[in-house]
Amino acid sequence: MINTSLKPDEVLEELRRLRLSDPSYLDGEVLGSMSTEAPQYLVKAYELFINTNLNDPKLFKNTYMLERECISWLSNLFHGSGYGFLTYGGSESNITALYILREYTGGEVVVAPASAHVSIRKACKLLKLRLVESPLNDRFTPDINALCDLIAKHEAKLACVVMTAGTTDLGIVEPVDRLISSCCDFRYLVHVDAAYGGLIAPFINDLSPNMPVFDFRLSNVCSITVDLHKVVAPIPCSALLLRSKDLEELAYFNAPYMPLGFQRTLLGTRCGGIAAAAWAAIKVLGINGFKELAMDLVRRARYLSSKLRALGVEVIKDPELPIVTFKVPNRELVLNRLWDLRKYVYPTSIPSTIRVVVGPHVTYRVIDDFIEVLANVLRELGV
Ligand SMILES: Cc1ncc(COP(=O)(O)O)c(C=O)c1O
Repeated sequence: MINTSLKPDEVLEELRRLRLSDPSYLDGEVLGSMSTEAPQYLVKAYELFINTNLNDPKLFKNTYMLERECISWLSNLFHGSGYGFLTYGGSESNITALYILREYTGGEVVVAPASAHVSIRKACKLLKLRLVESPLNDRFTPDINALCDLIAKHEAKLACVVMTAGTTDLGIVEPVDRLISSCCDFRYLVHVDAAYGGLIAPFINDLSPNMPVFDFRLSNVCSITVDLHKVVAPIPCSALLLRSKDLEELAYFNAPYMPLGFQRTLLGTRCGGIAAAAWAAIKVLGINGFKELAMDLVRRARYLSSKLRALGVEVIKDPELPIVTFKVPNRELVLNRLWDLRKYVYPTSIPSTIRVVVGPHVTYRVIDDFIEVLANVLRELGV
């Protein structure tokens, strides 16, 4: 039974205690999740606007202005024209994108490589779209010919093609540019799910010079999901960027009781805290700060990968983005033991593999510590 007669101080104390016994980012425990410990100034920024509503822009003009400035900055990064919304996460952004593209095209089918995130499957289910998946090759990247054949087959009924910039299992940036240049005899729109890679891939050219282009410079690309809460911001914080105003307007919904007469996005009340946190992150980091962060994360991922190989562990792929996926015999046993030791790594959909997402809190010290624990676990279990 929950005790309902606590004083605010008591309840906060209890919440502090509960939070402390959940896993900690800063102690190097959270290793497989794509979220991170947001810096305090972003939490503060969020808190300052926590009671404002982004969907009441006549009342909260400044909150709305923050959202527009964030969208404009992010859109600029992807060579867009400043359209889109802030949302509560990659899933909401992806669902909204597929809704908009379904409305725009009248299509019924979505074609995507098998690497698409579960939120794409979720979106198709919600929107009654048929998801047609194309296979990956043995390097876990999309088979472009197979993808193009499916596009040709479904062209007349296509709502969109989905490609991922930063796959969930391996952090692969899929070759949207190659798809579009190889598959150019058909009409189709592309949604890019850059929820994970969106704030990393554009900044790491110095380390990965052959990064595929996946942004609005490619005329088929109509929408891009990019999450701020995967690299810096407090949860929730994502953006859906759109190519044009008419696409944006497809996610306006009449709401006669609101001063503006309509609401943007799938939500009703939409916390302004997300705009304040995103705005603060952009103002403080800017292009240079994001670049420094992204490069640092990739360097750390490569360090982890080399340490794993030195242990004799098979790393599935040299990390492009800061996700390191590796093979372990008897995965369930290894995962359980690591979780018992508060090293919270995640499984992937590739058999026998485990993933570490190198977020800002996964420092070199955290990596060294993890390697030591993993080595002991593998030795102890004799696997
Ligand atoms: C590629 C990709 N897209 C979308 C999402 C969904 O993001 P969220 O959990 O913020 O809804 C994820 C989450 O891991 C992801 O990896």
